[in-house]
Amino acid sequence: MGLWARAPHRAPGSGWREPNMSRLGGISPAPQSLFPRNFPLRAFASEGISPRIATDADLPALVAIEQACCNWNAAQVAEELLRPTAIVLVAELDSQVAGWLVAWRVPPDELQILQVAVAPACRRRGVARALLTAMVREHSGGVAVVLLEVRASNEGAIKLYEDIGFVSVGRRRRFYSDGEDAILMNLNLECCAAPL
Ligand SMILES: CC(C)(COP(=O)(O)OP(=O)(O)OC[C@H]1O[C@@H](n2cnc3c(N)ncnc32)[C@H](O)[C@@H]1OP(=O)(O)O)[C@@H](O)C(=O)NCCC(=O)NCCS
Repeated sequence: MGLWARAPHRAPGSGWREPNMSRLGGISPAPQSLFPRNFPLRAFASEGISPRIATDADLPALVAIEQACCNWNAAQVAEELLRPTAIVLVAELDSQVAGWLVAWRVPPDELQILQVAVAPACRRRGVARALLTAMVREHSGGVAVVLLEVRASNEGAIKLYEDIGFVSVGRRRRFYSDGEDAILMNLNLECCAAPL
């Protein structure tokens, strides 16, 4: 999706690559002292969707989601769960883990969404929307802009991000390993009335 996540796209299934930290200019720890592991984020009770901080116990469910729809392997999922600077949310639907989201705080004031994925059987029920809104509502303190990259052909995801308030701001040519372009999208939290 973005930053290091382009590596799996460039070489699907070819294994792990360490993120290029120099591109980020250093990473600040996520403000997890405010949101300890297992802290229940804003409940979307009316929709039966419960976003929360991921724990190690979520690993098998997240690997299953990735095997069903994306190309992150178990090591990559585990790495994000362990990475102190990553913010990893899961959303439960009917008490089952239905989707997940990974983001990094990028100094000084950016939040980069690296992955959003929902189990195929749980789609179009608001899981991804709940994850994104929880991330922005609960983890955007000090953030001026939220960034992400999405395949140009991924019309569903682009529609999702536009619904949230993201706008397309650029295109990265041949960003993915198969030559597909990425659309660069931003959610500006400084200049706009809160969209969420
Ligand atoms: C893209 C993805 C995360 C969406 O998850 P989801 O939980 O089904 O999305 P939501 O139910 O929250 O959708 C919210 C809105 O986004 C839009 N949307 C989501 N998926 C869509 C699709 N396939 N086609 C068109 N619009 C779509 C719709 O406007 C939708 O609202 P609606 O259902 O009321 O019409 C999911 O399809 C997925 O995991 N895809 C594979 C991985 C992927 O492509 N991730 C994005 C990488 S950048």
